[in-house]
Amino acid sequence: MLIQRSPNGIELPYSSEITPRAVFESRRGFIKQLALGSISSAALLEMAARDAHAQGGGNPKLPAKLNPAYSAMDKQTPYKDATTYNNFYEFGTDKSEPAQNAHTLRTHPWTVTIEGEVKKPMTLDLDALLKLAPLEERIYRLRCVEGWSMVIPWTGYSLSEIIKKVEPTSNAKYVEFISLADKSQMPGVGSRVLNWPYVEGLRIDEANHPLTLLTLGMYGETLANQNGAPVRIVTPWKYGFKSAKSIVKIRFVKEQPRTSWSLSAPNEYGFYSNVNPDVDHPRWSQGSERRIGEDGFLSRKRKTLMFNGYSDVAPMYAGMDLKKYY
Ligand code: MTE
Repeated sequence: MLIQRSPNGIELPYSSEITPRAVFESRRGFIKQLALGSISSAALLEMAARDAHAQGGGNPKLPAKLNPAYSAMDKQTPYKDATTYNNFYEFGTDKSEPAQNAHTLRTHPWTVTIEGEVKKPMTLDLDALLKLAPLEERIYRLRCVEGWSMVIPWTGYSLSEIIKKVEPTSNAKYVEFISLADKSQMPGVGSRVLNWPYVEGLRIDEANHPLTLLTLGMYGETLANQNGAPVRIVTPWKYGFKSAKSIVKIRFVKEQPRTSWSLSAPNEYGFYSNVNPDVDHPRWSQGSERRIGEDGFLSRKRKTLMFNGYSDVAPMYAGMDLKKYY
């Protein structure tokens, strides 16, 4: 914890860690209700969501109703950690660089073109994306392939809502997500660290799975630039790199897409990249993880769960050798 000193020498917690009065008071009332047994788990989640929003980032508000069926009960990662410890190589490879550099990203106007093996190709602007389906808040765990994880309240709707509208043809076996790659806005795009644009992909059934979130917000606000504004994908049962940020194109294709990470190191990053504690990365174990925001010498590593705990997705991989299709 960062400590600051008051003028009289008493140590104060870092200002963002002081619980705002309104939050503290609503929490007190909440604990009373909890003791009386008059509160449901949905209300518990609503409370957790409000708590996190109180830490907000000052971006425009994006209100949405919490979907408890798709939300994790884990303690949420503080907004500050979720927006200062990022992977967004278009803005630098150091975890702190996206927060420092992503202010140059122009998120308005923005369009997403949906094309390829579809009967109704379309280009949607942000307004159209926001209105396409009711926005929901979902608290997802995100596990990075590097061995750390976060718990973030995202705002969006299932990608399947868009898939329904464009009507894929029977040739559409995979979906490709293509991020913006504009050197004038993204200083990292000049580097050779990855193939640009950043490309990710899913099999069509994975893209249609209700957990796959077309994401427009976080913590009750629009997305922070460093987290992939104005629109990204989140697939919580896969390693974080499958969740492409700042996407401009969604393409329905016949063949398995050649994704940026699997092109750069095919033996390390497979196409599927489902969170799997039994399949180690060639250079490190995937059996446990460090929860960002819980660092410190007393904090223990957590066990990583198969599919990051999202066991609903298991039937999609029935009969597949997940060591081969890592
Ligand atoms: N998308 C793009 N376009 N560029 C990237 O470098 N990094 C990925 C993924 N999406 C990345 C990206 C990786 S490695 C991770 S772990 C997650 O974004 C991190 O998302 P977060 O910063 O919102 O936690």
